[in-house]
This record gives sequence, structure tokens and C-alpha cells, in this order.
Amino acid sequence: MFNFEDYKKSAEFIQNKIKGKNPKIAIVLGSGLGVLSDEIQDKIVINYKEIPNFPESTVAGHAGELIIGKINGKEIIAMNGRFHFYEGYDLQQATFPIRVFKLLGIEKLILTNAAGGINKDFVAGDFMVIDDYLSFFAESVLRGKNIDEFGVRFPDVSETFDKELSKKLKDIIKTHTGREFSGVYAYMKGPTFESPAEIRALRTMGADAVGMSTVPEAVIANHCDMKCVAVSCITNMAAGVLDEKLSHQDVSNTAERVKDIFKEIIKDFIIEI
Ligand code: HPA
Repeated sequence: MFNFEDYKKSAEFIQNKIKGKNPKIAIVLGSGLGVLSDEIQDKIVINYKEIPNFPESTVAGHAGELIIGKINGKEIIAMNGRFHFYEGYDLQQATFPIRVFKLLGIEKLILTNAAGGINKDFVAGDFMVIDDYLSFFAESVLRGKNIDEFGVRFPDVSETFDKELSKKLKDIIKTHTGREFSGVYAYMKGPTFESPAEIRALRTMGADAVGMSTVPEAVIANHCDMKCVAVSCITNMAAGVLDEKLSHQDVSNTAERVKDIFKEIIKDFIIEI
């Protein structure tokens, strides 16, 4: 378990490296969506390995660096590569950077991910703004001694995703793609893709998409009162929806195919917020 001082130490290290910069927006770049990092200007890159207490990223396709710079003139911090429970980290480790962002003064957090489509209206390559989540099958990221400096013991989570930011993002997606989806993201621990029976159960429970990230980070952001908005790139239809097997390669191929449009969506969104 980390304590408040551990987060402070990391934040102070980063602050020293980015003196004079004052970003208010952070973005977590999901699977294959790291292409946005090429668009960041005047950048300072800090490898996760350098930062005290930061875990290291282990998944292929996920870099491991923090990039501080500007998109369309606006200062941001981007996490190029995130940490997942399935890599073996506990959830406190996996979400460590989010609280560090809070201490750095970040006010708005943009989470992106690759997800499987459960709602049959989706096709691979669609984007879904996350309105709400299911997380029944995972322990809470807030389990353990509460750190009161960040938030309360029993937080309300009914507005985990900021409504105003979500609406703006949905409108921008509509402009770029002509399609507009928002829905419920089911968090599963991975690393197996879900079984077809699990997907049927999740659909019955109200899920529109499924993935292995984002919810722990969003819960932490909500706990420490950071505005959070999240978008899934539907890289594949979830298990059993189509008569085909799932593979990480298909996930990467779709992410690669839509990366430019995704990049433009996020750039436009950053200008607006
Ligand atoms: N399930 C879980 N996580 C995912 C999927 C999926 O089908 N696609 C991309 N990430």
C-alpha cells in the first residue's frame, strides 16, 4: 500500500522536471492509440523507470513514458502506456499515476481504451463515450486504508464520468464519424478475453462494451474530485457476438486502422475543454 508521501514524492520529482509548465489536462493513451504522442509539441519525455514509485509498463504495444507538452497550444500530460491488473500489478500500483496527476494540479482526465463491443449496434472501429460502468467482478481500487487527503472513505460514484465533458466528446465524435454512441463499460480483469457466456451475462446486466482498464483509474479520479471523461475504441465485437475467435492482433489492427481519426477527435476535444 502506498501512503500520501509516496504520491507526493513522485509528483515533486515530475514537478522538478517540468518547471514552469502548468498542465490542467491529463490523457491516458490506450492500446495502439499512442500515435497522439507524435502530435505533442515542446515536449518533455520522462520514462516511467525514472519516476520514484512508478511501476513499469510490460505489455507489447504500450510504451512507458510520461509526455508533457502542448497540443494545439494547450498544455497537457499524456501517459503513453498504462498499467493493468492483468500484468500483475495490484490496483493501487496500476492507478498510481492518477493521484500523482491530482497533486500536479490536473483538473481534467481523459481516459482512452480499446474495448470489445457487446451492444450489437457497434461495428469494429466505432467509438463509445463511457457513461457508466460495471465492475462487479473486481475488487475496488479503493480497498484498504483510506487516504483522506485524496477523498472520503465511501465515495459516491454516480457521476464518475463528467456529463458536460462527455457531451462535448460525443458531439466531436459525431462530427468526425457520423456515429454517436455512449454506454456502459464493463470492467473485466483479464488477461483472457471473456467467455461467450460472460458476454451474454454482461449484456443482460446492461453492458455495451467490455475491457480490461479504465474503471480503476476513473474511480480514483472521482475519489479525488478530478473531472473524468472516457472513450472506448471498439476494436472487436466481444466473444460470441460474431462467429470468430478473438485475438490481440485484431484489436491492434483495428486500433491502427482508426488511429488517425481518433487522434483528430482527441485534438479537437482538447481545444474545446
Ligand atoms: N474484451 C476485453 N478487453 C478488450 C476486448 C475484449 O473483447 N477488446 C479490446 N480489449
